[in-house]
Amino acid sequence: MPTWLDFWQNENEFDDSMTANYAFFLDRVETYAPLSPSTRVLDIGSGPGNLEDAWHSRVGDIHGLDISKRYNEITRAKHAGHPNVHIHDIPADDYLNFGPVADRQFDLIIVMSVVQYYRSAAEIEQLLTNIKAAAAPGGRALLCDLIVAEGVLGDVLSILGRSLRQGQLLSMLRLLFRLRFSDYYSVRQQNGILIVPERDWLAMCKRLGIKARFIDEPLTLQQERKNLLLQF
Ligand SMILES: C[S@@+](CC[C@H](N)C(=O)[O-])C[C@H]1O[C@@H](n2cnc3c(N)ncnc32)[C@H](O)[C@@H]1O
Repeated sequence: MPTWLDFWQNENEFDDSMTANYAFFLDRVETYAPLSPSTRVLDIGSGPGNLEDAWHSRVGDIHGLDISKRYNEITRAKHAGHPNVHIHDIPADDYLNFGPVADRQFDLIIVMSVVQYYRSAAEIEQLLTNIKAAAAPGGRALLCDLIVAEGVLGDVLSILGRSLRQGQLLSMLRLLFRLRFSDYYSVRQQNGILIVPERDWLAMCKRLGIKARFIDEPLTLQQERKNLLLQF
């Protein structure tokens, strides 16, 4: 039975389509995460390198971590000429092992559209522990596009509404249609997707002594999805 890990390792419908969602995020993120030429950035689940493409010339070092060697190769190839971009493979069966960045501290940590592919809330608590260890004093982390409640229909309607307002309705409809008949749909049917309610996120942060709050405005096209800001 194919898993999420297999899905990301193969060519898939998200390869190009993530860019539209990312543009929406990039337009808003700096309200919560101010950048400077010395900002050290960690991008957990860096995928095809959307953040690295947008920020490599605006910040200090950017380190990306991903389980997909295929995405990591794509990002490395695009940034071969940028010595401040560092992309690390993390093991698909040990993805909470952040060994490649263990001795580093970061001012800004971004986790975009990743934790829904984790297996349990306990893994998320470990992720928060890792983030706390990696954050520099005064640093911030943004965990984005979090699925906090059941409801595929609401998710779909909200992304269509926003795409319409962004003038991207047709390309989003095309993506949703392709997804319905793709491996994404069958992998999601078989493996499910992790849903962690807002109160559970906040309770975990409290247990770990992390200052956390959900941001009011949407940072991604799916309005039902939430975005959590951590401050250290
Ligand atoms: C929807 S893509 C998002 C990529 C990127 N953050 C963006 O928004 O453009 C999900 C990414 O998470 C990665 N991923 C999935 N499970 C992961 C895990 N357990 N640890 C690290 N990365 C993971 C996938 O390989 C894929 O690159």
